Amino acid sequence: MNMLEVKGLSAGYARKGLALDDVSLAVPKGSIVALLGANGAGKTTLIRAVTGLLDLHHGRITQGSVSFDGQSVLGQPSHRLIRLGMGLVPEGRLVFKQLSVEENLHVGAAILPRATLQERLDAVYTLFPRLLERRQQAAGWLSGGEQQMLALGRALVGRPSLLLVDELSLGLAPLIVESIYKQLRVVGQTLGTSMLIVEQNARLALEFAATAYILDRGRIVLSGPSQEVASNEAMKESYLGAKRNTTAPAQEPQP
Ligand SMILES: Nc1ncnc2c1ncn2[C@@H]1O[C@H](COP(=O)(O)OP(=O)(O)OP(=O)(O)O)[C@@H](O)[C@H]1O
Ligand SMILES: [Mg+2]
Repeated sequence: MNMLEVKGLSAGYARKGLALDDVSLAVPKGSIVALLGANGAGKTTLIRAVTGLLDLHHGRITQGSVSFDGQSVLGQPSHRLIRLGMGLVPEGRLVFKQLSVEENLHVGAAILPRATLQERLDAVYTLFPRLLERRQQAAGWLSGGEQQMLALGRALVGRPSLLLVDELSLGLAPLIVESIYKQLRVVGQTLGTSMLIVEQNARLALEFAATAYILDRGRIVLSGPSQEVASNEAMKESYLGAKRNTTAPAQEPQP
């Protein structure tokens, strides 16, 4: 059974060509799936299309279907999708910089009944003790890694059945990224949360996720178990080559 199922999805922005062209992808229940691709491949557009945020960016789905936990959700607004169990960590984190850490978590907890609030906050603080230490501080004063923990905490506090994370590692030191992914794995193992992880760092994502999809200029060009994708020759050349941790195609030596 799939938690998320995208079929034949095409989408674009006004006065631009298609940003997604006939994309199909599935996140099985309890599974972690990576969506990889270079700058401008359409990764964020896919996340927006799935979470009902495309309108906000003057984009539009032109074809295809999206189902969440067996139910069609195409065209549903994001506030409803959150209630249904989606949790989003957007590109750029987008924490509320003037609000304190705890206030940011309260934003994520807005849909929760009061009785469960404290327990959920505690669970986030257990996962990321740094957030507890900085509970009263304005989010704008946190380091990049702590802001990413906060953005994750804000999504996790609602205990989503599907967590969508757009570019967790961007601009963060490798050790911080590693420790955050480690905690996300704990979430997956303890709560069975399904995850769709967008990453530019292909190597890292392929270690973390069970399945991977490679998006290239709006189309899925490769998909399968992460190990298979990682050993694919074209993949190695383009994403896992000499230029480690970048998604730029490896340069061919000049004759
Ligand atoms: N709000 C927008 N209006 C118009 N075009 C957009 C908008 N957002 C993205 N695009 C275009 O859609 C295409 C896909 O962009 P998208 O942001 O989805 O790529 P991405 O894979 O997330 O890239 P990155 O790795 O840089 O985040 C690009 O050509 C981009 O220029
Ligand atoms: Mg993006």
